[in-house]
Amino acid sequence: MKIFVDSADVAEIRQARAMGLADGVTTNPTLIAKAGVDLEKTIRAIAEVVPGPVNAEVTALEAPAIIAEGKRFAAWGKNVHVKIPLNHDGLVATRALASEGIPTTLTLVFSPAQAILAAAAGASWICPFVGRLDDISFDGGQLLSDIVAIYRNDADWSTMVLAASLRHPVHVIQAALCGCDAVTIPFSVVRQMEGHPLTDRGIAQFIADSKKGKG
Ligand code: E4P
Repeated sequence: MKIFVDSADVAEIRQARAMGLADGVTTNPTLIAKAGVDLEKTIRAIAEVVPGPVNAEVTALEAPAIIAEGKRFAAWGKNVHVKIPLNHDGLVATRALASEGIPTTLTLVFSPAQAILAAAAGASWICPFVGRLDDISFDGGQLLSDIVAIYRNDADWSTMVLAASLRHPVHVIQAALCGCDAVTIPFSVVRQMEGHPLTDRGIAQFIADSKKGKG
């Protein structure tokens, strides 16, 4: 399973690379606004640090404008993917961009039915949003398993599943267990994943024991 970082912070992405993470990166307009950065400069900078897909999300709403925005993004780097919200215009734009060989990621996916349309349109990736479904008392983990099973049943579809809106380590484990192709994780969740109280306690004990009998 590939691990992407859900961030628009280049320093954080470099930190993740140093741990063997960041096979790719996802951004969205909220992350860009939070980081207070310029979209084009940031995507270009990330695309130099990360070898895999670097996702820049469109804000245009109608298919012709999404296609134009997507083509502009794709010129920023060979590994830049166009992230498009999944709705009618998004699907039309995805089809057009895919037919020109421009990779796309369909985002804001909340149902297996949407995932079927994404595959038919030729999306390279889809982002089912686990945390936001959990937020409204639906089972985000079940959404992931359903989509993975549906895609496995059709050998003609090559769309890959990038689990998104992951808020804690259990979401990451759910995605890995059901066979998602990739997860995108905020760096704060990476920090949660690396820590365990028993690891800290064990280290403290070993350090204390290593000092015994010295001198
Ligand atoms: C990534 O592609 C998504 O935009 C992101 O994971 C959304 O996460 P959130 O639901 O925590 O905002």
